[in-house]
Amino acid sequence: MPRNLIIDCDTGLDDAVALLLALRSPEFNVLGITCVNGNVNLNRVVINTLKVVDYSQNIVPVYAGASSCLIPEYSEDASQVHGSDGLGGLPFPDSSRSAESEHAVEFIVRTIMNAKEPIDWVTLGPLTNAALALRREPRIADNVRRLTMMAGGVHSGNTRYMSEYNVFADPEAARIVFDSPMDKTMVPLDPLFNGGHLNKENINQIREAGKEKPWCNMAAQIFDRTVRLVHELGRKQVIEEGAVSPPDLLAMAIAIDPSFGISEDYQVFVETRGEYTRGMTVVDRRKYNRVKVHPDRKDVRVVMAADQNKYSDLILSTWLA
Ligand code: BDR
Ligand code: CA
Repeated sequence: MPRNLIIDCDTGLDDAVALLLALRSPEFNVLGITCVNGNVNLNRVVINTLKVVDYSQNIVPVYAGASSCLIPEYSEDASQVHGSDGLGGLPFPDSSRSAESEHAVEFIVRTIMNAKEPIDWVTLGPLTNAALALRREPRIADNVRRLTMMAGGVHSGNTRYMSEYNVFADPEAARIVFDSPMDKTMVPLDPLFNGGHLNKENINQIREAGKEKPWCNMAAQIFDRTVRLVHELGRKQVIEEGAVSPPDLLAMAIAIDPSFGISEDYQVFVETRGEYTRGMTVVDRRKYNRVKVHPDRKDVRVVMAADQNKYSDLILSTWLA
């Protein structure tokens, strides 16, 4: 029986491939996709999400949510990475469909509160919609089976020294979500360089399948663009040449099958005030003399590494089926 899922995203390049994975997975029944301001503005996120849904050939409703972070003057996009259109300038046609009229936050609250079985929830962007939903109706926390977030970094950040984009882009919202009692899995930056990548050969197989399957066609174009981007941005290639490690794709794969992730349980706090550390996820990894400052607080399952073969098998078996 597929599990019911809500996805929240800020569709840039890696969100797009994560959506394609969920929408093609027999493990998930995607009830709706909610959009949040992030990589690019909300309007662009909605346009991109609708394009991706078209390519997946699994038509699900799309909802527009927050158009800025909780403290709007701190807003910062990631268009320097994803391009001003959020999809690296790739020529995917616009969808003829539009977003639903219901606000994303209303959809999240209504769907989780009415669900007969606890729901899976995956967030791939800043946590603004999730925080607003928790504020509107804190009881949703009781009916979420597992929240899987692409969020944070244990050893470093990508947007600031110690801050990963999705948390940095709205730390006040992230704090509300991390402080909630939900069952939480955090997929930080760390496993991307420790097994969480697809190699050249995997991408070649997906490109080949793209001759017949539109979702593989879109994914291959995105992976090729991502490989070029690393060079254009002058970034040091830390994984093998020609490989990709899209953060949101790994988070979605972990949501489908947590067993290929190597995880540790920690208390995690979000820094909202640090001069150099605003948006940092503070992970309590002390090994001795560990005094829990908040003994009743639930640990977060933090994914530290991934099994690369199992990861690529999951992606290939889902898309090439
Ligand atoms: C995260 O930030 C965004 O730019 C990506 O889409 C991903 O969700 C990685 O830090
Ligand atoms: Ca994202």
